[in-house]
Amino acid sequence: MQELKGLILSGGRGTRLRPITHTSAKQLVPVANKPVLFYAIEAMAQAGIDDVGVIIAPETGDEIRAAAGDGSKFGVKLTYIVQDDPLGLAHAVLTAEPFLGQSPFVMYLGDNLLQGGIEDLLAAFQEHGPDALILLTPVPDPQNYGVAELSDGAVVKLVEKPAQPATDLALVGVYMFTAAVHAAARAIKPSARGELEITDAIQHLVDRGLRVEPHIVRGWWKDTGRLEDMLAANQLVLDTIVGHVEGELIDSQVDGRVVIEQGARLERSAVRGPAIIGAGARLINCYVGPYTAVGEGCTIENAEVEHSILLAGATVRDLDGRMEASLLGRNVKIGRDHRQPRAYRFLVGDNSEIGIL
Ligand code: TTP
Repeated sequence: MQELKGLILSGGRGTRLRPITHTSAKQLVPVANKPVLFYAIEAMAQAGIDDVGVIIAPETGDEIRAAAGDGSKFGVKLTYIVQDDPLGLAHAVLTAEPFLGQSPFVMYLGDNLLQGGIEDLLAAFQEHGPDALILLTPVPDPQNYGVAELSDGAVVKLVEKPAQPATDLALVGVYMFTAAVHAAARAIKPSARGELEITDAIQHLVDRGLRVEPHIVRGWWKDTGRLEDMLAANQLVLDTIVGHVEGELIDSQVDGRVVIEQGARLERSAVRGPAIIGAGARLINCYVGPYTAVGEGCTIENAEVEHSILLAGATVRDLDGRMEASLLGRNVKIGRDHRQPRAYRFLVGDNSEIGIL
């Protein structure tokens, strides 16, 4: 068998995570202070896949290259592949065809998180030798996902967001393909939303009589494409951290599993885990509650923050009420304004959302 390769999809528009994605790739939004994308690269490395292609968009590709580099820090070799337009997941596969050649490959959506890695699906793929293997997980709301119908242990039908789902088995953003997928991706037509859908390419494999095997995911899986999913992913990953304190605590206390990174400084503050406080952050007279990830160099002063993600350099000051379920972009400043006349004063980018007490 040809050597197995990896393909991580890190292009796309990210419209559902605006305004963060106006200036940055959604795959670089940190979950527990580590870019989402890095979890996918680490899963590849852990499974022994060291030749990994990364699909990037022209707008955000440079930032992704700068963050992940040549892959050596993960122990893999990364090859960047520019997809000029986000014309769908199957289009991304076709864009990567020169890199993939005849190799079988694992395709991993760069904004997805999968607990427990990909080793067991690799083992199933190698043992059973199907033409494709798709990951499925039971969900309470299958009408919002690509849904699979099974018969005799094989996938027989895939329907994108069905009004009347036949099963509750949703497609997870990780797939394994043989080179047969390229012909399928070439054979299909764009969907109503104008994209070459991977579900249509897989259905094409099934219709041609090729074997598509289901693999039910046991651990959790999270697509981080929307704010609430990003916060949920942050919660799931923080639930697994091991606490350690490297920063400085002055008249402060930490409860539960809390990571305080090097150079962070807490004064008269309390942090209740699971939580992570990034390098060089300053916490003064504040409370940070469970499921909060505070990025590098952030400042929180006279405020309470819970169940939130703060990107590097964000500042929160002098809030009367607790801030929660929030995602603050880099260098965002939130605070009380003491100038007269008393008024709300905002400078916010397109598609921002602000909720006030
Ligand atoms: P999606 O989240 O389905 O699409 P999107 O990134 O365009 O986001 P939105 O719907 O909010 O506008 O994409 C899943 C992953 O695949 C994500 O990491 C982006 C990536 N992707 C590509 O690399 N190329 C593409 O053509 C598409 C559609 C997505």
